[in-house]
Amino acid sequence: MTACIAIAGAGHAAGQLIASLRQGGFDGRIVLAGEEPWLPYQRPPLSKKFLSGELALDRLLLRHQAWYADHRVDLHLETRVTGIDRAARRIFLDGGKTVDYSSLVLATGSRVRRLALPGAELDGIHYLRTIDDVHAIQHDFKPGARLAVVGGGYIGLEVAAVAVTHGLEVTVLEAAPRVMSRVVSEPVSSFYEDEHRKAGVTLRLDCGVRGFSGTGRIESVMLADGSSLPADLAVVGVGVAPVCELAEDAGLACDDGIVVDENCITSDPDILAIGDCTRHPNPLLGRRLRLESVHNAQEQGKTAAAWLCGKPRPYADIPWFWSDQYDLKLQIVGLSGPEYEAVVRGDPATRSFAVFYLDGDRLVAVDAINSAREFMLSKKLIAAGARLDTARLADPGSDFKALAAAALEAAAG
Ligand code: APR
Repeated sequence: MTACIAIAGAGHAAGQLIASLRQGGFDGRIVLAGEEPWLPYQRPPLSKKFLSGELALDRLLLRHQAWYADHRVDLHLETRVTGIDRAARRIFLDGGKTVDYSSLVLATGSRVRRLALPGAELDGIHYLRTIDDVHAIQHDFKPGARLAVVGGGYIGLEVAAVAVTHGLEVTVLEAAPRVMSRVVSEPVSSFYEDEHRKAGVTLRLDCGVRGFSGTGRIESVMLADGSSLPADLAVVGVGVAPVCELAEDAGLACDDGIVVDENCITSDPDILAIGDCTRHPNPLLGRRLRLESVHNAQEQGKTAAAWLCGKPRPYADIPWFWSDQYDLKLQIVGLSGPEYEAVVRGDPATRSFAVFYLDGDRLVAVDAINSAREFMLSKKLIAAGARLDTARLADPGSDFKALAAAALEAAAG
């Protein structure tokens, strides 16, 4: 049988995998099955420039239709993979088709956490994960409309920024005492809270949501304190969860994510998994983790392709993330946590500053706000395991480039 790589899921990870497979010389059959009607596309702009209408749909696509034909990819869009027969090395597709594979790659991604609350099924309550979700939100996105955003994380705050700029009346309802608490420390949360308030967004922190009311369509959000907030539409962004059912049903090891090794191989050597859906080892961080990031999707796509082309390239990278809100670019590298010392460099009032997280004198993570240079250099510093002088780092008069160069040199020596 000619080698056949079947891919379940047609997101960013799958798009990268296919390109890397052909670049790496894989000449066999590639079958891609994805449940959305779209070719693999970039998700990050969905809550930013695609929602605001500044970016056209065809600019979201990783590659156009003709590229898939040129690279001999057998496309099955709007098609779910419904099961795996591992013994026969066969997958089952919606509509009764089957595909026999020599290797299978699960790139099933993550799905939004949905609120199981009274009224959660009313019209006008949206989630944001796909192109179709954004089209539905845009339908309700009218200047003057009252928008309730549930969740003050990446999605909620990016949507709030676009909406208030478009003249909607925006209230963010966040359960935690501060915004983006999953990913950034207090000084960064507090800076973003100020920026949103200045832009006209109402923020309600420590705010529980009990449900939604309305006749057929949302009219208000019922809050835990007994009050209610009138709303014409809601966007809910309360996190995502990995899509593991196919893997679980097939008996593959899963643990809040499909368990893979450094080459993206699951507990079945003929099945790999990549992207948001995986729990993978990171040798640089010394632990197993699950990541919701484009960077991870791309790197695991490359790693899986390298393995399948017989040129292994184990995955070992420091994670990074970004968020665009207004004219503010937040770039995060590494994984911060309350156990690390946080050193603020620069004045938040200038709208350009960075928070460095240190384990003793070793740099582990950085949140950089409108500070591309700090972000780029910190990527290198963290990967090198560099050590920094905390006092010099906190001194706004010190030259960061020189500080970083010295730390990199010391780490290399
Ligand atoms: N009511 C209000 N807020 C809630 C509730 C709730 N019932 N449940 C959770 N939250 C808050 C959390 O405290 C958190 O601040 O919702 C926020 C969710 O933020 P994220 O975890 O960043 O998730 P989300 O914004 O949905 O983004 C999900 O999409 O942007 C991509 O990959 C990116 O990881 C990101 C993912």
